[in-house]
Amino acid sequence: MKHIGIIGAGTMGSGISQVSALHGFHVTLVDLEEQILHQGINSIQNGLKRQVKKEKISQELMRSTLDRISTSTSLNSLSNADLVIEAASEHKETKMNLFQALDSICPKTSILASNTSSISISNIASATNRPELVIGMHFMNPVPVMKLVEIIRGNQTSDETTETVNSLSKKLDKIPVECNDSPGFISNRILMPMINEAIFCLSEDIAKTAAIDKIMTIGMSHPMGPLTLADLIGLDVCLSIIQVLHNDFGGDKYRPCPLLKKMVTEGKLGRKTGQGFYSY
Ligand SMILES: NC(=O)c1ccc[n+]([C@@H]2O[C@H](COP(=O)([O-])OP(=O)(O)OC[C@H]3O[C@@H](n4cnc5c(N)ncnc54)[C@H](O)[C@@H]3O)[C@@H](O)[C@H]2O)c1
Repeated sequence: MKHIGIIGAGTMGSGISQVSALHGFHVTLVDLEEQILHQGINSIQNGLKRQVKKEKISQELMRSTLDRISTSTSLNSLSNADLVIEAASEHKETKMNLFQALDSICPKTSILASNTSSISISNIASATNRPELVIGMHFMNPVPVMKLVEIIRGNQTSDETTETVNSLSKKLDKIPVECNDSPGFISNRILMPMINEAIFCLSEDIAKTAAIDKIMTIGMSHPMGPLTLADLIGLDVCLSIIQVLHNDFGGDKYRPCPLLKKMVTEGKLGRKTGQGFYSY
């Protein structure tokens, strides 16, 4: 495996590109507009610069890493990708359309992976004629720092595909852990109800933002509080995930907090827009 295609130059796609290129893979990063790609490359550059400053990588490795990344606004640039990791926005229709297109563009043997946080891998695979080669590769944010890759097997994902993706994750210096396909998988099925509940606590004025976070960091030894984490993930991404859980499981347990919906409507998406539960 030499050439990895990555779709989406946002928070996750740029992080996955950075880590893949750093470990020697040639990356083609695809997004809808040049401007977004430009921002993605900037954020990769800044991430690598921080690593140089901390003396984790050399200036030379930073340069060669950047040289291994090319960008494009056309999916056709992925026509010889050995593996594609889709990290586009968390909308089922967007992902279904992308996988249908990738199936006709990429070589018949290429693995098509999705970084989705919650959408069924078996559903995404049904948009293709190669469900055995479709798998979930759920990286954590920030990708260059976080070790886990949650590997999600769809109904028809083959053992060979799973092995290849496990071994690739290790080459990227990550730790793959497998689970079966189910809404939100393991990570977000457990994490998102906690974040949503923290937002309910805030909206019911049970405690202020900082107090809610402190109770969870000091009291539960979480490295960051749920509201800080929501800002890091992106409130739009959190809302999409909790909506998938609500739609797929039903019941009140996963009902999105109205305050979360309101903040997303107002464009307060967290760190990426400069305003969420905190200001940046
Ligand atoms: N943010 C997180 O903490 C996090 C963590 C793990 C997984 N994820 C998942 O990763 C994926 C991306 O999330 P993100 O936070 O990077 O979102 P983001 O909004 O930062 O970036 C998404 C990018 O996808 C692009 N895009 C949308 N439609 C596209 C298309 N048809 N073709 C090409 N590009 C397209 C957008 O222009 C945008 O740049 C989502 O599925 C999300 O659930 C996010």
